[in-house]
Amino acid sequence: MSYHVLDYANKKPLGKTNEKVATLGLGTLSIRDFVSAERALLKAIELGLNVIEVSDSYAFGLSMDLIKKILANIERSEIFITFRVSPIVLSDPSTAIMKFEQILRKMGTNFVDVLMPAGYTDFVSLDTVVKALEAIADKGLARYLGLSEFKVRQINEVLHMLHKYDVVMVQSRYSVFEKRIEKDLIPFAVKTGITIQACTTLEKGRVLKHPVVLQVASKHGRTAAQVALNYVIARPRVIALTKTERIEHVVEDREAIDLRLDEEDLNKLSMV
Ligand SMILES: NC(=O)c1ccc[n+]([C@@H]2O[C@H](COP(=O)([O-])OP(=O)(O)OC[C@H]3O[C@@H](n4cnc5c(N)ncnc54)[C@H](OP(=O)(O)O)[C@@H]3O)[C@@H](O)[C@H]2O)c1
Repeated sequence: MSYHVLDYANKKPLGKTNEKVATLGLGTLSIRDFVSAERALLKAIELGLNVIEVSDSYAFGLSMDLIKKILANIERSEIFITFRVSPIVLSDPSTAIMKFEQILRKMGTNFVDVLMPAGYTDFVSLDTVVKALEAIADKGLARYLGLSEFKVRQINEVLHMLHKYDVVMVQSRYSVFEKRIEKDLIPFAVKTGITIQACTTLEKGRVLKHPVVLQVASKHGRTAAQVALNYVIARPRVIALTKTERIEHVVEDREAIDLRLDEEDLNKLSMV
């Protein structure tokens, strides 16, 4: 696998399903102003960036309240919710359904589109986590299952444990600064048909000041954010998240999808 393998598209396949999901979406971590974030999310959905990531661990529950507010304005089918659930919710399969139903009530929905445990943990056995995930999916509270921040070896372990479901998505850090997944997770995802949801794609804004990113941006008459996002979403099987509370950034981030980096750009960015 090399970074030269590119796959540009507005939507990409979800795992091995027949569904496609938006190549770019927004997360709800580290929001400063929830009123602005609500406006920005609604704009993002209007522009087709409708994959929204949320977690029970973000902002003491305020990110889940934000989803409820969003859903008061749109149909449930207009957004695709990927949910990163805390291990504590999955620590006992017999109570996982009840705990997850509370989460869904807080968000004002009956289901999430992809449910993923937040990280591989020593506190709860993987067997227990998998049983709890399956129980939640059996009840129709999650359409699909995924994993957040699991290594290839750990993903394989889960694939062997799951009886009725597949892993459609794996969430992982990926940016111009953090390229480790190009060596293992991207080739694995291409081979096994898993969608990667890249997060921290702008390194919380730090990547925007890098001279090489700025140089490539200037060459194309684009912004640093558009180059940094495009570098990530250009990869096969990779969709991405960023986070913004500004409508002007939503519009700018949407336009990142249409940029086409060339080999010279990719060579430069791969050295960063
Ligand atoms: N699996 C995990 O462990 C994990 C970890 C981290 C994050 N996540 C998820 O991934 C999401 C994204 O990650 P992140 O929050 O770390 O975001 P990020 O994409 O690394 O950076 C977001 C920052 O970039 C700024 N930004 C966005 N668009 C911009 C633009 N066009 N120009 C200039 N600045 C721009 C935002 O500021 P403004 O708001 O001012 O626009 C914000 O400060 C999170 O919200 C969360 O849902 C998951």
